[in-house]
Amino acid sequence: MIKKGIILAGGRGTRMSPLTKAVNKQLLPIYDKPLIYYPLSVLMLAGIKNILIIVNKGQLNQFKKILSDGKRFGVKINYIEQKSPRGLPDAFILGEKFIGQDNVALILGDNFFYGQSLTYKLKNCVKIKTGCKILIHPVKKPELYGVAEVNKKNKKVMNIKEKPKKSKSFMAITGLYFFDNKVSQLSKMLKPSKRKELEIVDLLNKYRKKNKLSYEHLGRGGAWLDTGSIDDFYNTSAFVSALENRQGLKIACLEEIALSNGWINKNQIKQAINFYGNCLYSKYLEKIIK
Ligand code: DAU
Repeated sequence: MIKKGIILAGGRGTRMSPLTKAVNKQLLPIYDKPLIYYPLSVLMLAGIKNILIIVNKGQLNQFKKILSDGKRFGVKINYIEQKSPRGLPDAFILGEKFIGQDNVALILGDNFFYGQSLTYKLKNCVKIKTGCKILIHPVKKPELYGVAEVNKKNKKVMNIKEKPKKSKSFMAITGLYFFDNKVSQLSKMLKPSKRKELEIVDLLNKYRKKNKLSYEHLGRGGAWLDTGSIDDFYNTSAFVSALENRQGLKIACLEEIALSNGWINKNQIKQAINFYGNCLYSKYLEKIIK
């Protein structure tokens, strides 16, 4: 069972400048909460309590102000600074000590997931013992993502490419990955690509070539949304707003997930209300402990 997770929450955020000049992208709002709440909630729904957040050099305090050590919502958060965005597999090099002898999940700090059987799917993914598992989902513009060609019959990943100009497949590789303990060692063997980054597809290919790469569909009823550009931020915010206001239930309320996982009690929710102050988020927390 995977019990450790890494959130990669650095990056230059150049596409979203000037919004990201002073504030890290992952701390900008998706409707009523910072973006980082959403990937963090995914790890928590998977049952992962031991979390490493990788942030840009100089931005640690911004994250600590809102997430602190994670106690407020029943998890343990460690932080590491990344000097420059060296690529996604750098997470496993920087996180080698954190990973130790265990398997690990990685979620990109800008990824948003929502869907009916999401928790069930996540709980299945964390069961992997060896190899690597990816979650795939269809997209209209595969050229913007890592793309997987899969064989439905034998459930094998035939080919993977990063942002291919032309692609037969419309299956994007989402920013949520489950790895065995070899991941740090394999990441250290990678060479930077033409764009001078360590590439996640090169790492995944190492597993694929050894027949150790498996995949799972998020499923048609699941939503995997982008937060890569300013428009994506607004569209994802509109999605969250529509669902939350219709149902009266919040997406990615960390304290609610922690309470239902049995990681915190009602008293700790009261402390969280104090932390947030008089706001709609606190009103929601009051409602769930009534
Ligand atoms: O969102 C899924 C896609 O994410 C995958 O389909 C692609 O295969 C994968 O390469 C990645 O593509 P992006 O172009 O979205 O990656 P980006 O460079 O934007 O980084 C994603 C997040 O990770 C972003 O929040 C910044 C953070 N990051 C990125 C790099 C390269 C870091 O914290 N450190 C880094 O070194």
